Amino acid sequence: MFKLAVLPGDGIGQEVTEQALKVLAAVKEKYGIEYETASGLIGGSAIDATGDPLPLETRELVAQSDAVFLGAVGGPKWDGPEKKVRPEQGLLGIRKLLRLYANLRPVKCWPQLLDQSPFKNEKIAGVDLIIVRELTGGAYFGARGTEVVEGEARAFDTIEYSASEIRRIVQVAFALAGERRKKVTSVDKANVLDTSRLWRKIVIEEAVAYPEIALNHLYVDNCAMQLCINPAQFDVLVTENMFGDILSDQASVLGASLGMLPSASIGEGPALYEPAHGSAPDIAGQDKANPLAAILSVAMMLRISFRNAAAATAVEQAVAAVLEQGLRTADIWREGNILVGTAAMTEAVLQALP
Ligand code: IPM
Ligand code: MG
Repeated sequence: MFKLAVLPGDGIGQEVTEQALKVLAAVKEKYGIEYETASGLIGGSAIDATGDPLPLETRELVAQSDAVFLGAVGGPKWDGPEKKVRPEQGLLGIRKLLRLYANLRPVKCWPQLLDQSPFKNEKIAGVDLIIVRELTGGAYFGARGTEVVEGEARAFDTIEYSASEIRRIVQVAFALAGERRKKVTSVDKANVLDTSRLWRKIVIEEAVAYPEIALNHLYVDNCAMQLCINPAQFDVLVTENMFGDILSDQASVLGASLGMLPSASIGEGPALYEPAHGSAPDIAGQDKANPLAAILSVAMMLRISFRNAAAATAVEQAVAAVLEQGLRTADIWREGNILVGTAAMTEAVLQALP
């Protein structure tokens, strides 16, 4: 039996996880999917209960699972530069524990949401890109410290990458491009950083095995600009951890809202699925959160971990259908739309399932 570990986390993570699981349950019979769920604590709620953002029970639970669904972590209650234990450590810890080195963040411009985007319609029409972000290396996991040097506080973080860490993520990007529009854009800062020069060298080496894929390289600053002026040029973007973090938030705006952006993190073991948005403590518990990023993350799980493309497509079609009906949560609402809450949006998705 397929074991799904469910880690709702904090804030709206709890609400959107609950809604997303309803959608998974709804496709179960029709598409012959079998699974059992077990829940665990992560992030701030885990700190409150155990003092640890990734408690041992959660580590054991996810290590024995076939896939993990995660809501979101964090909130003001646990924030502050002086805090030694932080919710985000749970997220980083699980990425490292499960060796989730490839983070996939597809961004597509939903035709129904063109007007909600701050970009001009003609700029974003047809945007369909995916950011392949390296997730277990770089500045997030390099040597760091805070010290006092000559009476002054000083801090450092280190970006480190080995050739093999770069090679495996680059291979994911090329393989993915082969199933898509056959274009890879590698993003680096090779005019400044040694890690980026190694990155570019490995990308060029790997490209030889994929003659059918068109490859280009962009510096990250230029890429940020290109994402604004001509985002439709991109198919697969591959980049290191922190560049990918920043560019994926930026790119989410092309798809109208971070509330629409799903993600999958893949490694050698169980994959992890989570909406790319955070815990949004300001709207938590008010039935205001957009559940669609979480629901679309379920679609990614159906496609990748359950290997059930038909069920995944059904969920995506249902999301398109509710947008077509004019239903909108507050983050994507515009005059003339129908404003709905988290639960009502999910209910509409369930009704729209083909
Ligand atoms: C993300 C988030 C995380 C990250 C934070 C919460 C640690 O921003 O998944 O993009 O920086 O990776
Ligand atoms: Mg981020």
